[in-house]
Amino acid sequence: MRILVVGGGGREHTLVWKLKQSPLVEKIYCAPGNAGISEYAQCVPISVEDLRGLVEFAEEQKIDLTIVGPEAPLAEGIVDLFQGRGLKIFGPNKQAAKLEGSKVFAKELMVKYNIPTAEYKTFTNPEEAEQYIKKVGTPIVIKAEGLAAGKGVIVCEEEEEALLAMKKIMIDRAFGDAGNRLIVEECLRGEEASILAFTDGESILPMVSSQDHKPVYDGDRGPNTGGMGAYAPAPLVTPEIAKYVEEEILLPAVKGLKSDGHSYSGIIYAGLMFTEKGPKVLEFNCRFGDPEAQVVIPLLKSDLVPILQAVVEGKLSQVKAEWHEGYAVCVVMASGGYPDSYQKGMVIEGLEEQKANHNLMVFHAGTDIQKEKVVTSGGRVLGVTGWAQTLPQTLKNVYEAVESIRFEGAHYRKDIGQKALKLLK
Ligand code: AMP
Ligand code: GLY
Repeated sequence: MRILVVGGGGREHTLVWKLKQSPLVEKIYCAPGNAGISEYAQCVPISVEDLRGLVEFAEEQKIDLTIVGPEAPLAEGIVDLFQGRGLKIFGPNKQAAKLEGSKVFAKELMVKYNIPTAEYKTFTNPEEAEQYIKKVGTPIVIKAEGLAAGKGVIVCEEEEEALLAMKKIMIDRAFGDAGNRLIVEECLRGEEASILAFTDGESILPMVSSQDHKPVYDGDRGPNTGGMGAYAPAPLVTPEIAKYVEEEILLPAVKGLKSDGHSYSGIIYAGLMFTEKGPKVLEFNCRFGDPEAQVVIPLLKSDLVPILQAVVEGKLSQVKAEWHEGYAVCVVMASGGYPDSYQKGMVIEGLEEQKANHNLMVFHAGTDIQKEKVVTSGGRVLGVTGWAQTLPQTLKNVYEAVESIRFEGAHYRKDIGQKALKLLK
């Protein structure tokens, strides 16, 4: 098979690395890819926003299956475009991708199909939003309806903060049209974890659970990022909880989407808060998480290709997935200054030495090659990922590698996996 992966981050490096292990794969292309991906796939300089360029490339190169990493091209309708030309592609179409692209769409689906989530109200008028915020008080969560690169959700402890967040979204329009509607939501307390599943719109095939670490600094302090690290599985998610999430959250969502006339297929990703009253949905995403993919995919023992094919062909109930025992941990090494502004072009050293370690992969995110050297080219630079039987062993393996990789300004969290360690004690 000839495969095209769309994207160029750590998630896509992980997908390409796994696909490369499949005997069914003859050639992999990745658009645009990165320095790490170029060792496994032919990178093509087409951006993820250039949907026409991507579909023309897939036609010319006779691509058998395209896999979309990020949400933006899904929300823009890449799947509709490919399918319209008779090309196979993994991911939901434009209408179904609203599950992630519109928080109002997701909330309405959850209410209609009794899926546990926080109480909320939607606003289009800033004065009404202000009155409501003042009435219900804090803590409260303010959300822009649309895609805002992970920055459109503000958890507010003070009323003033909530009003400022509302103004930023509705009046200053900091996220443009993503702020056309505002969601004011009940603040949930508890631990978070993500459960992703493959789905063909009929049945689901859940993956091992995982936990991301969004704030930039140790102890969950500082501003939110795309994700500073992850581990899988999350000990919080016992087999009973996984079953509950499958039956009460993932399946009702997939079946609800179908009865509402959407043909949803690809990944359904539930971001969950484990409250005293049980797990509640914080958000749905319509793609692999980044860095969740970096820890979930290495634990997949089965070949990924037959699963992706079964999803695309609507035959998911016919396939099974086997998972490795043990844990995977990913520690993200970021550029100095990230998630604010940062410099690019810093030479990365210590990458070659890691290749002898067979329980470790350094997944590249923002990297490039300049004058035959691997250099930084983004905020999140590397996802150093290891796996082993126990969590302490995995953490030791990963952090030893992290400490031996160097670039100017590099920073990373030193407490990835600590919450899981506490639960396991
Ligand atoms: P989202 O993009 O909706 O997952 O939100 C990003 C982060 O904001 C989540 O990972 C939570 O930490 C937090 N968050 C979102 N919604 C709520 C809520 N209703 N209560 C508390 N925290 C929330
Ligand atoms: N790591 C969070 C996300 O991919 O949305």
